[in-house]
Amino acid sequence: MVYRSWMRNQGFGHEVFDGRPVIGIATSASELAPCNAHLTRVAEAVKRGVWQAGGFPLQFPTMATGETLMRPTAMLYRNLMAMEVEELIRANPLDGVVLLSGCDKTTPAMLMGAASVDLPAVMVTGGPMLNGKYRGQDVGSGTHVWKFEEDLKTGRMTEEECFFAEGCMARSNGHCMTMGTASTMACLAEALGMQLPGSAAWPAVDSRRMETAQAAGQRIVRMVEEDLRPSHILTREAFENAVRVNAAIGGSTNAVIHLTAIAGRVGVDLDLRDFDDLVRAVPTLVNLMPSGKYLMEDFCYAGGLPAVMAELLRGGLLHGDPVTVTGRTVAENTEHAERVGTDVITGLDAPFQPAGTGIAVLRGNLCPDGAVIKQSAASPHLLTHRGPARVFDSPESYHEVADDPDLDVDENTVIVIRNAGPKGYPGMPEVSNVPLPAKLLKAGVTDMVRICDGRMSGTGYGTVVLHVAPEAAVGGPLALVRDGDPVVLDVPRRTLRLDVDDAELARRRQEWKAPAERHTGGYTWLYTQHVEQADRGADFGFLRGSRGHEVPRDSH
Ligand code: FES
Ligand code: MG
Repeated sequence: MVYRSWMRNQGFGHEVFDGRPVIGIATSASELAPCNAHLTRVAEAVKRGVWQAGGFPLQFPTMATGETLMRPTAMLYRNLMAMEVEELIRANPLDGVVLLSGCDKTTPAMLMGAASVDLPAVMVTGGPMLNGKYRGQDVGSGTHVWKFEEDLKTGRMTEEECFFAEGCMARSNGHCMTMGTASTMACLAEALGMQLPGSAAWPAVDSRRMETAQAAGQRIVRMVEEDLRPSHILTREAFENAVRVNAAIGGSTNAVIHLTAIAGRVGVDLDLRDFDDLVRAVPTLVNLMPSGKYLMEDFCYAGGLPAVMAELLRGGLLHGDPVTVTGRTVAENTEHAERVGTDVITGLDAPFQPAGTGIAVLRGNLCPDGAVIKQSAASPHLLTHRGPARVFDSPESYHEVADDPDLDVDENTVIVIRNAGPKGYPGMPEVSNVPLPAKLLKAGVTDMVRICDGRMSGTGYGTVVLHVAPEAAVGGPLALVRDGDPVVLDVPRRTLRLDVDDAELARRRQEWKAPAERHTGGYTWLYTQHVEQADRGADFGFLRGSRGHEVPRDSH
């Protein structure tokens, strides 16, 4: 009675309490996360589908980690959102859940939380914005923001032109329409089998986005009847597919961290090495910014992810057997996929970029637990490089001097930025691809090797070694580097070394002192106490694994 009576105050008749599946619709809609602001409308379409299929839909809000506004970084809050999603799903009497996300961290957070509860779950991402259109040119979110800011600085654009361009770039609801982290994670949710085929690519304002949401609403009711849960879908093979799809779409380096974290929730052992080993034979098929020239709307018209997956399957580069939220396998889902044209989604016979040019995983005495570099975003001549380190203890200390005409750097210098890792910053922000020193930019230098324990935006570029583990703040070797130390980067051999002998490094280690704890309370304290290193997905240690959906005691 207590369960029903209060629900009646929303106008639900007693007949909906007849034992039909209760479907939660977790929406991360928020005006503070503009990429997710329209999800309330998407939720309406999901509800229609749930009712049609004989379920009882109940929408509830979750927090939203908006990339553009949250400080010090939305990544600090991914795990908090994942905890909230997990607890809300478990604590309420739900039989299944539809997860509505959009902006970068919201998709992995939803998947992590839902995986740890393991009730039937289907994801519906909110879709990308329409292509930006500025003076006859397609402009991409992220990628062109950096360009316009430079143009404003150098006087190539006036402030008024900039205001106008901003509106041109963000002319509809939706998340970034480049192949940044949001589009990447939407595609990978589909590659994992957690969202309906084709749904990553429909633009947020395309009516078919609502059709797909409605279909997800129908499907979740059937999934409850079939007891098709994340643990059945998120298998080792599904993750292998996602890793390969990430290479084929030219996806974000952030996917490495998020996929590892999601895998940790379902007990799948996904090693950093897998992100290199599994993709050696996978070319980049998708020609989208930041690596290429098109945008998500074009990707949608070219056939979207099913067309990419069908092509990979044809080449024997994907597993066809994993079961997905449709109840069918990857091979069955993509049977009728059609690739329209050959420019946006290229074929294996003439790929946009050859195999082995995507994400590489490095090892060496500077990154014993690994580091990551996106080769397609780097300069080929710097992929093997030896140069002296110039060390900065924080991104801020670099920015303070970056414009100094007397800065002691040249184009061979390796810029080391440390204390930007999960614990050190805290939150592992997207600060690694710092702009080059002004004096070198003026001299015509376009790229330099940068090494950092932080992340890089999915829309960023440069020869930047990311996710160095262990990070400096926990005593990783990055903490021991001194100005002038020779750094040796050899991407073809997958190594990153500091050419300083072991005895000297051991001596420096003795002198090293852990930074003082800056956070003594609140969520940030919890975060710094429990966050794991990048190679483990930067999840909290105590959140790994699935805790199931059983609730041992009642509330009344
Ligand atoms: Fe939200 Fe790019 S800022 S998706
Ligand atoms: Mg981003």
